[in-house]
Amino acid sequence: MKNILSKKILFIICGGVSAYKSLETIRLFRKNGFEIKTILTKAAKEFVTPLSVASLSQGKVYEDLFSLENETEMDHISLSRWADVVVVAPATANTLSKLSMGSSEDLAAAVILASNKQIFLVPAMNVRMWEHQSTKNNFKILKDYGYKFIGPEIGDMACGEYGEGKMSEPLNIFNEISNYLNLKKKNNKIKALVTAGPTNEYIDPVRFITNKSSGKQGYQLAKSLSKRGFDTTLISGPTNLDIEDNIKLIKVQTAKEMFEATQKNLPTDIAVFTAAVADFKIVNQKKNKIKKNEDFFLKFEKNIDILNYVSKHNSMRPKLVIGFAAETDELEKNATTKLSDKNCDWIIANDVSKKDAGFNSDHNEVTIYYKDKKIQKENLSLKKKSEIAEEIVDRIVAQIN
Ligand code: PMT
Repeated sequence: MKNILSKKILFIICGGVSAYKSLETIRLFRKNGFEIKTILTKAAKEFVTPLSVASLSQGKVYEDLFSLENETEMDHISLSRWADVVVVAPATANTLSKLSMGSSEDLAAAVILASNKQIFLVPAMNVRMWEHQSTKNNFKILKDYGYKFIGPEIGDMACGEYGEGKMSEPLNIFNEISNYLNLKKKNNKIKALVTAGPTNEYIDPVRFITNKSSGKQGYQLAKSLSKRGFDTTLISGPTNLDIEDNIKLIKVQTAKEMFEATQKNLPTDIAVFTAAVADFKIVNQKKNKIKKNEDFFLKFEKNIDILNYVSKHNSMRPKLVIGFAAETDELEKNATTKLSDKNCDWIIANDVSKKDAGFNSDHNEVTIYYKDKKIQKENLSLKKKSEIAEEIVDRIVAQIN
């Protein structure tokens, strides 16, 4: 076990019989130099006392959303900002249900809703409760929101039944969280650049040619990279999306501007090209708005291929270059051709002829083609773009570290 100093954990204990395991988990974190603040829900106090939690954590225990003392000292927003990571253990069926609805009815729920940090949920409940369709749905929703789960395990339960639902052991929880924080610290020194969205190629000052890219896939990738600690830059064509402050966002309109912004942000260690860059720009762009009765024709010329420029750069080629391929036919053939022609390490292909995936959808289904790996391709089945991004970033983390 590695000793990590000055790491801050906000530990939320909910009301379940496994709450005693949280005390042991807190002890482990403290022993290894972590700073802990704790929130106890009303139900948690039926299982563990604030006094035992305070003495083990050697930190403040918070209980009420509307406590004058707490709110003047550290309000629920500051509490969520203070932590490096938030751990909810045990996370009961009721907690999962409340969180999936975005409830903020008590301090624990309000802090989680307001948090900008990774949240780890450690479920613990009876096997039937865990297997219930409503819990399954909540689990899926919370995964979509980006919450990470530790466990539950299969085993004997406090209620006498056997099955899946048992809370993970303190050492497992400790190892998962410390690995996450260790990697995040390491990734801090690694630069990642993502291009996203469409580009607009202007015909006159008010008219342009563009495509259906919403930027969603690229923004989710930038979010996932930043959450894992990478020093992330997002170069985005015009979109309606927002991004967290810790991501350096550069907004552009045209492919030329996207290229120039990319050049300025080299060198980088990782480059992911999700943008749907227009292949052509208009040469005879008009300075003034074209009149209705005016005769005109459009003359095109090729835009520079940004991915190609970066992946073939003599001195500044990133360690990992990932291209995307939007295909309507012959997905594998076209993707593998792009993999080699554009000198990528990976090409991530999406079949954009499908109705509920690809351009402007919240979902995607992709196949990753690798250049130098034993496994040459991997399919990530249809799911939310946030989850696709997480799965891609899992693979980036494994490759780069
Ligand atoms: O934005 P969303 O609505 O979320 O949709 C996501 C997406 C479908 C746009 C995305 O998943 C995707 O497939 N992006 C690539 C789209 C594309 O233009 O593919 P392409 O096959 O034309 O280009 C291949 C690669 O070269 C891409 O990585 C592209 O960014 C890059 N390229 C292309 C042309 C160019 N001039 N410069 C480039 O960098």
